[in-house]
Amino acid sequence: MTPRDKLTLASLQKMKRDGAPISMLTAYDYPCAQILEEAGVECILVGDSAAQVVLGHNSTLQIDVDFLVTLAAAVRRGAPSAYLVGDMPYMSYHVNHEEAIRNAGRFMRDAGCDCVKIEGDRRIAKTIKRMSAATIPVMAHLGLRPQAVHQLGGYRAQGRDADGAQRLIDDARRLEDAGACALLLEAVPPEPAQAIAEATELPVIGCGAGPHCDGHVLVLHDMLGISEGLLPRFVKQYGNVRTDIRNAVDGYLSEVRSGKYPAPEHTYKGSKMQDAR
Ligand code: KIV
Repeated sequence: MTPRDKLTLASLQKMKRDGAPISMLTAYDYPCAQILEEAGVECILVGDSAAQVVLGHNSTLQIDVDFLVTLAAAVRRGAPSAYLVGDMPYMSYHVNHEEAIRNAGRFMRDAGCDCVKIEGDRRIAKTIKRMSAATIPVMAHLGLRPQAVHQLGGYRAQGRDADGAQRLIDDARRLEDAGACALLLEAVPPEPAQAIAEATELPVIGCGAGPHCDGHVLVLHDMLGISEGLLPRFVKQYGNVRTDIRNAVDGYLSEVRSGKYPAPEHTYKGSKMQDAR
């Protein structure tokens, strides 16, 4: 495989201008990152969804900077040329700007991320301004913001009525003006998503935001068929990896129990032990 050029913000901006769809998936470990890199995925998000799909929590709130920076560094080792987005976890950018900049700096310096992502509406404009001034590119996550689940009253699609859609469009403009480098829209109807994507030069990545965004993202475990339970309606499963893993484990169990594994070819040859009892 010939190594590709490093994906940068300029590459994503060019893809948008050329109308070339940007692919983005989450990853949380080295081997999966290698697979995404080999496949040519442009963007990888080390999402705080790790709290759910890796750690088994029931929301994204229970994960911290140390853990996500460690995962992001592993993903970077596996995917050196992808555009790597580090997701800033709950309460890592809310308390004050200094803390936000320090935490974001860890994703950039210690993990080699290309930008960080933070969730919020117009109320995080100042935070984005301060982070950008500190040379940290920020992707702003609008629409359904899972870190605000208790405020939003559940995981509900956003911007579904005219007022909500207009508010979303205004929020996007405010965050662009504040210096955001890209937008991520989660669980919003296609109409406001299209209006936002057409009104800005920023790459707009949709996650359940219809076909008109500049790119699309899914949680890897959801699209591979590893996650169990009810998934959001925008998720499409492209594999059934949970069943594949289960079949492999069942095969191993049955061969261990029947004595078929390990066979001679899995066994080291050594000097014959004389009279070994
Ligand atoms: O944490 C995450 O995985 C996300 C999704 C939008 C993909 O933020």
